[in-house]
Amino acid sequence: MKYNFDEITDRSNTNSIKWNFNTEFFNDEDIIPMWIADMDFKASPKILEKLKERVNHGIFGYSKPTDTYYDALINWFKSIHNFHVKKEWVCLTPGIIPAINWIIQSYTKRDDKIMIQTPVYHPFAKCIENNKRKVITSPLILRNNKYYMDFEDLKKKMDSSVKLMILCNPHNPVGRVWSEKELITLCNICMENNTLIVSDEIHGDLIFKNNKHTSLASINNNVLENSITCTAASKTFNLAGLQTSNIIIANKKLRNKFLNTMKLNGIDEINPLGILATEVAYTKGQEWYLEVIKYIEENYRFLKEYCKEKLPQVKVIEAEGTYLAWLDFRELGMNNEELKNFMLKKAKVAFNQGYIFGKNGGGFERINIACPRSVLKEALDRIYKAYKNI
Ligand SMILES: Cc1ncc(COP(=O)(O)O)c(C=O)c1O
Repeated sequence: MKYNFDEITDRSNTNSIKWNFNTEFFNDEDIIPMWIADMDFKASPKILEKLKERVNHGIFGYSKPTDTYYDALINWFKSIHNFHVKKEWVCLTPGIIPAINWIIQSYTKRDDKIMIQTPVYHPFAKCIENNKRKVITSPLILRNNKYYMDFEDLKKKMDSSVKLMILCNPHNPVGRVWSEKELITLCNICMENNTLIVSDEIHGDLIFKNNKHTSLASINNNVLENSITCTAASKTFNLAGLQTSNIIIANKKLRNKFLNTMKLNGIDEINPLGILATEVAYTKGQEWYLEVIKYIEENYRFLKEYCKEKLPQVKVIEAEGTYLAWLDFRELGMNNEELKNFMLKKAKVAFNQGYIFGKNGGGFERINIACPRSVLKEALDRIYKAYKNI
């Protein structure tokens, strides 16, 4: 490998939410934090070099992207995902979560129903509730250690009163990379009921070997016109703090509604370092990207082997992508509070408790494996020791 992902970079004193606030969050400096979804790897040297040049320039005034930014994005989506994006479809936002809030505000009214598939990235439900809309859940099915959509349940619950479906594609936290066939079935159910689909594809580049991400909007013209795709270079290239995302809306009427909501919220410019980092990532980041995803997949294999050998009570759910692994601790027979205490107080590792992703996440833990393998091993050793001392 050209890049050294085994290298440990001290992230304390960098305002890192993950590494700077152990005492504040857990009252314990000694915790290994593996919860919030950013990587513990330095970004690609190509991005760092350009950012340094830009910092040396010294002026950070109001900014917006030029054609080179859009060309970089268009080429990335065409070459990596066979998704043919047009410049005018792209709306820049300071993150996907703000965008999801604006989507909810743009296309739904108070008390409207919005569908999610639990267990799922927990801010989805929060965005719906904070905007006073109703969360409708269609729980995923766990079969032979892998998750599937429940189409029968979706058909039962989907009707014209469900105005929006927020899809996680690929799915955080269960690691599924939805197949084209699954996505087509889902789209048909939504479109029969005039339900707009938001496809959050922030993890869309982070795909393991022999799997393929399908950009929802690339399925056909009908889907393209009835969906919104949320994308960013932030997860793929570890740039989340620069808060730059690209929301792709081909349908002009829908796009204008979204842009109007952004305007009402006073959002007109974007972080100049975020614009630059995204453009460099999409033009010069390919080599780093291919290596980082390989390293992450090796971490996932390491995690699986470790649990099989030393922690057979803990099942690692079959993942096809993302750097978030989903672990089934139910065999330990602990309730949510006991499991939380076991992880934080006995093992001294901070994962995300499964129940925050939905009721059916109880007894599971989400672990961020985008870290040097030695850190992952230390966390697993801590769990192993804590388990032996129960
Ligand atoms: C599925 C998903 N969507 C959105 C986000 C957050 O995006 P942003 O930081 O751009 O708001 C995350 C972060 O973990 C995520 O996993």
